[in-house]
Amino acid sequence: MSVSHAKITVAGKTIELPVRKGTIGPDIIEIAPLYRETGTFTYDPGFTSTASCESRITYIDGDEGMLLYRGYPIDELAEQGDFLETCYLLLFGELPDLIRKEKFDYIVQHHNMVHEQFARFFQGFRRDSHPMAVMVACLGAMSAFYHDSIEILDPQQHNIASIRLIAKVPTLAAMAYKYSIGQPFIYPSNGLNYSENFLRMCFAVPCEEYKVNPILSRAMDRIFILHADHEQNASTSTVRLAGSSGANPFACIAAGVACLWGPAHGGANEACLKMLEEICSVERIPEFIARAKDKNDPFRLMGFGHRVYKNYDPRARIMQKTCHEVLNELGIKDDPLLDIAVELEKIALHDEYFIEKKLYPNVDFYSGITLKALGFPTAMFTVLFALARSVGWVAQWKEMIEDPAQKIGRPRQLYTGKTKRSYVPIHERASI
Ligand code: CMC
Repeated sequence: MSVSHAKITVAGKTIELPVRKGTIGPDIIEIAPLYRETGTFTYDPGFTSTASCESRITYIDGDEGMLLYRGYPIDELAEQGDFLETCYLLLFGELPDLIRKEKFDYIVQHHNMVHEQFARFFQGFRRDSHPMAVMVACLGAMSAFYHDSIEILDPQQHNIASIRLIAKVPTLAAMAYKYSIGQPFIYPSNGLNYSENFLRMCFAVPCEEYKVNPILSRAMDRIFILHADHEQNASTSTVRLAGSSGANPFACIAAGVACLWGPAHGGANEACLKMLEEICSVERIPEFIARAKDKNDPFRLMGFGHRVYKNYDPRARIMQKTCHEVLNELGIKDDPLLDIAVELEKIALHDEYFIEKKLYPNVDFYSGITLKALGFPTAMFTVLFALARSVGWVAQWKEMIEDPAQKIGRPRQLYTGKTKRSYVPIHERASI
């Protein structure tokens, strides 16, 4: 709904641009007519002031530290819901009733096996491959294995692709882990729920019965809920941009996994744990705080700061609680890394530099310690993030592809290179 207009004057010409209101959040100035009317582009590296799309899925209020999935606060979903109902909510817009929930759980569960040929596909990787490299390849390969659900003009195929992704990514993630440690793949078991099944596929061995610990599987489920979606972050924007060309959903999600891998995004949980290990003792914290504040040192406190949250990341609070629950359950009374994390957080929250720049702990600050306690090696942390985020990516991809106003994404640029010049044959070029 257009409520008012913004005026902009460029080279003496004034034009009016419509200002649109969302249901909550900042108003949006629609700048699409700008180039047509004035011949100029806008410039916003990192998209700090640019909305790239209209969406009804997830809302973040960074100043308030609020995260809503389809209107529901993240803490209520994490405390009272489960991951599969969160998936349903993100995909279809409403929480399911009992019958729909049972049907959805059943369908996801009955798509959890992957094509047997996938086992051979894994054999092509070195055992020491980073599991994120394996996941990028596996997601891309899904379009080769499941080519009956890649027709982007068919909404029925969108749903099948969505279910296949949610159901099979845990199986592939567990296979990536098993492959890296040289253990046999464990097939999914339909008597277990989503998170129980995932833990079993990761930690069971054929020679022993595996009993799922309900506290740990609940913690795993909660971690998946916390990571399920986060509006137009780098990897989700990557998925949307890849999808805008008409690429199939599996290829788009593979692009999202690749983007998530970076240490400024999903790779931060791995980087955060490595940082805590490097700090090594509470006494050395001031040294690392000083480095983080030094403009000439590229070091940053991993697990701190966020492009959108300028307050405590609401996911970090739940993650901190989950971390304590997991350590208690496992009887880990003294975890030196947890001691360092708690002290680091305390110091940073009272330090002028962090206060002034509004740098608070983000979701990754406690997730590394929790995942390590659950038994995962650091290289798997970002894989778990990718597993959970697959539903967000596919919900955002579906929303985009089903929008009749959807166009290929094609940003413009401020060109600062050479102007037009003539080709010089190689023997006539001055040596450089
Ligand atoms: N440690 C020290 N200084 C920092 C940090 C940090 N973790 N984060 C930001 N700053 C400083 C930065 O140097 C800059 O200072 P100045 O204004 O003097 O140049 C200022 O704070 C603003 O930083 P920015 O890089 O402009 O902020 P951004 O919004 O572009 O970056 C961020 C956000 C997440 C990339 C950044 O805070 C960061 O690198 N954090 C560490 C990595 C991390 O934990 N990432 C996980 C994000 S949450 C998971 C996810 O959603 O993917």
